[in-house]
Amino acid sequence: MALLMVPLLPVQASVENPSLLPSPPMGFNNWARFECDLNETLFTETAQSMLSRGLLEAGYNRLNLDDCWMQHDRAANGSLQWDTTKFPNGIPWLANYAHELGFHLGIYEDAGNATCGGYPGSYQHEQQDADTFASWGIDYLKLDGCNVYAEDGRLLRDEYKYLYSEWHKILSDMSKPLIFSESAPAYFCTNETDWTRVMDWIPYNGELARHSDDILVYSGAGSAWESIMTNYGYQVQLVRYQQPGYYNDPDFLIPDHPGLTEDEKKSHFALWASFGAPLIISAYIPALPEEVITFLKNKDLIDVDQDELAQQAALVTRDFNFDVLTRSLTNGDRLLTVLNRGNSTATTTIPVTHLGLDSSCKYRARDLWTSTVKTIKDSVEVTLDTHATYVYRITPPRGCTKTTPTGMIFNTASGRCLTASSGKATFSSCDATDSQVWAVSGSGSKLTLSPLSDTSKCLASKDGSVLLVACDSGSGTSWSHFITGHLKSGSGDCLVDSVRASLRTCDQNVAGQIMGLPSGVQLATGAA
Ligand SMILES: *[C@@H]1O[C@H](CO)[C@@H](O)[C@H](O)[C@H]1NC(C)=O
Ligand SMILES: *[C@@H]1O[C@H](CO)[C@@H](O)[C@H](O)[C@H]1NC(C)=O
Ligand SMILES: *[C@@H]1O[C@H](CO)[C@@H](O)[C@H](O)[C@H]1NC(C)=O
Ligand SMILES: *[C@@H]1O[C@H](CO)[C@@H](O)[C@H](O)[C@H]1NC(C)=O
Ligand SMILES: *[C@@H]1O[C@H](CO)[C@@H](O)[C@H](O)[C@H]1NC(C)=O
Repeated sequence: MALLMVPLLPVQASVENPSLLPSPPMGFNNWARFECDLNETLFTETAQSMLSRGLLEAGYNRLNLDDCWMQHDRAANGSLQWDTTKFPNGIPWLANYAHELGFHLGIYEDAGNATCGGYPGSYQHEQQDADTFASWGIDYLKLDGCNVYAEDGRLLRDEYKYLYSEWHKILSDMSKPLIFSESAPAYFCTNETDWTRVMDWIPYNGELARHSDDILVYSGAGSAWESIMTNYGYQVQLVRYQQPGYYNDPDFLIPDHPGLTEDEKKSHFALWASFGAPLIISAYIPALPEEVITFLKNKDLIDVDQDELAQQAALVTRDFNFDVLTRSLTNGDRLLTVLNRGNSTATTTIPVTHLGLDSSCKYRARDLWTSTVKTIKDSVEVTLDTHATYVYRITPPRGCTKTTPTGMIFNTASGRCLTASSGKATFSSCDATDSQVWAVSGSGSKLTLSPLSDTSKCLASKDGSVLLVACDSGSGTSWSHFITGHLKSGSGDCLVDSVRASLRTCDQNVAGQIMGLPSGVQLATGAA
């Protein structure tokens, strides 16, 4: 009898196989708190503390080593070697220790020929190093991008693509693929077009990516809050890339940073959870005050972070004080996250229509900090102290479960908002008025964009201009949105940020064409 031969497919990773990392990783990394001062004792103490203080049970199940764990030289056979002073029992011993308690162990390397700290990089040792890590019991790799140089006439951004996709192939072909955290985009975040072109391939080559600056380290000079807000500012530009199996990573939580107030620490956690971002704590966990442990274990916020839909909360409105964000959750609930970026206590009112909900319904709203539940009709009013964040989970009643992706449409390079303005559209400073809140209906190449200031009007392309016309007038009101950020009209041209919104030939290298849209908008396939 002939045996049925089943071809052995390589195990794909990232968005091709969300089951490798179905929700964002949670755990500990030493870097922001200890930088190169890591060792076995720090990791075993941290593991014991995470176990006894309930963090492991809450989901924080990864212990990740960062840079400086290794020796300055490879062994005679080319293998990487751990620093035997820092890790007297060795990394395989530590992996085993972690596994016995219920943790995973992750490691750090670099795609170039040296790590940022000057230890051996993996360049031209990729397969060997991947095999070494797997043989040590490691199942997660953060691959940094220091000391990468363009070769063979490639653009620098294409060199990163080449190296990181080689790694993706190596990791995917392993019998147990390592989780792959890609630091490539962080090397391009000062140039919007290079950055976006790098982001375009990131979700297909790994499970998460450090997309921007390092969060301020414990001993670092400067404002920790501004560092958090900088990474937050990058994160809100990347909504369209996130999907189950791939998560944008705005870097570590730093809940013992001496420069942060209690409200700022809680905001940091609540914002990252709203994004569905990795929750990797870089702090001395044994000494964290109980109230910090308590908020890090907030089950309602962790459930939001780990929600299977993996939508990233997107900006609904922004003004000089408040950022309002929303996204959908698997059970049909809507999230409302409000951050007071201003320097004093302030109050704002958010109409439910801004969240893509029907104003004729009554909703159940649960405050995820206090667990109190209230009923809301038309709107929610919130009063927030400086740098504090509210998160509500809003449950629609039966018959009111339809939601429409709704919020800001903005050029991610300039931060200016698409604004409805008497029959035309402009790009203007964001001011949280209804003329900057857009309901995005439809899918694929048939998106329609309608401002809440006049829901009978839709954005249209007509004779090369961008206009607002009656939605039912039929022509020119279809748009498509691409992973590249382009918003393309039915006429084939792309929306561009200019005082009066206009159309130009779609171009991958024009920062003014890269648009951020509400979460939940279905992307068109291919490129604009
Ligand atoms: C391990 O690292 C911690 C944190 O940097 C440090 O306080 C401790 O002295 C180190 N222990 C050893 C044995 O090196
Ligand atoms: C390479 O050498 C190191 C150090 O001598 C050893 O621990 C390791 O097992 C060797 N690796 C292989 C693949 O032989
Ligand atoms: C690092 O590798 C590149 C090739 O990618 C090479 O051109 C460069 O000389 C190397 N630099 C160092 C410091 O070894
Ligand atoms: C960004 O990078 C692109 C492509 O590498 C380059 O053409 C452009 O001039 C850069 N933009 C800025 C503002 O430096
Ligand atoms: C808050 O204060 C900081 C520091 O004084 C200042 O840089 C910032 O612009 C202020 N923010 C607002 C929204 O007023």
